[in-house]
Amino acid sequence: MARKIAFINYKGGVGKTSLLVNIAACLAKLGKRVLICDFDTQSNASIWLLRLDRWNKINTSSQGAVYSIFDPGEAKVSDLVVKDVVRSKTGEVVLPGLDILPTTFNLVDLENEFRGDPARPPYVIFRDQLEAIESNYDFILFDCPPNILRASQCGIFSANEIYVPSNPDALSLIGFTLLVEKLGKFHQLSASFRKSSQGVPARVQGIIFNSIKTGVDIDVPRMRMQLRMNQYRSAKRVAPSAKLFEQHVRDAMVVRRAVTLGLPVNLVNASADSSGESTVVDDYRKVAMELIRHGDGITD
Ligand SMILES: Nc1ncnc2c1ncn2[C@@H]1O[C@H](COP(=O)(O)OP(=O)(O)OP(=O)(O)O)[C@@H](O)[C@H]1O
Ligand SMILES: [Mg+2]
Repeated sequence: MARKIAFINYKGGVGKTSLLVNIAACLAKLGKRVLICDFDTQSNASIWLLRLDRWNKINTSSQGAVYSIFDPGEAKVSDLVVKDVVRSKTGEVVLPGLDILPTTFNLVDLENEFRGDPARPPYVIFRDQLEAIESNYDFILFDCPPNILRASQCGIFSANEIYVPSNPDALSLIGFTLLVEKLGKFHQLSASFRKSSQGVPARVQGIIFNSIKTGVDIDVPRMRMQLRMNQYRSAKRVAPSAKLFEQHVRDAMVVRRAVTLGLPVNLVNASADSSGESTVVDDYRKVAMELIRHGDGITD
């Protein structure tokens, strides 16, 4: 059964998309079958991995993006998935096993203009469609904006686990706090729509520190985050197995450059890998391994 995981923090710009895409790429490199579902109308993951030319075709045609399962409502998730999305400039598959359900900017209409059937909220429509393809994957990862509005709800409702990318600052801590508050409310609101086959409602399983500059001591921010995590664990507001990841991701220029190149970092940095020096690619790989291991120890 696929592990269904949302990456979210109520703080923007902390590295949700870059962690998700780079971890997904490491998982695919390990031979896992991975689907990224882009639920952020900014379309960052979609533009990054499809590159502008392919993404623009979807954006201008109004076909092929996730919003079309809601309006006009005839498309199927299974038809929208772009298989083996990472390609060379000449179109060859360079990372088999990494697929994406893309979005374009029209996903913003889900928040206001969309008038659906209240008996079938968008997250139910999406859940029902995702079911048809879940068995094709080991991991389904949902990239969410920094809120739990309708688009984000689709990812969170289908997910069973949540990981919170964070920077070592007070605002990330506030973002985590707000997330836990809003998550509780959403689970209450959506409880009657759940099916037992979905498994547990997604709770926070982990916090991953990102963009750590060389020489910066993160002991204090880690301790503060750990304290908050402990409080929430005692109050049963995060999973009993929730933890701060031991591995963090350093700040590195190549993370930004990878976006421009339309590649995950592990495909950009291949030559540096053999130098023996530890790189940000190792950080992502270790985080991916920690994520895999954490899955074995999850308790409800
Ligand atoms: N480890 C890193 N080193 C250097 N730059 C990074 C790193 N992680 C992320 N960035 C850069 O920081 C910026 C924000 O990252 P990203 O888009 O992943 O954040 P986000 O949380 O998804 O943002 P949003 O809330 O807008 O969705 C991007 O320009 C990204 O390339
Ligand atoms: Mg993002």
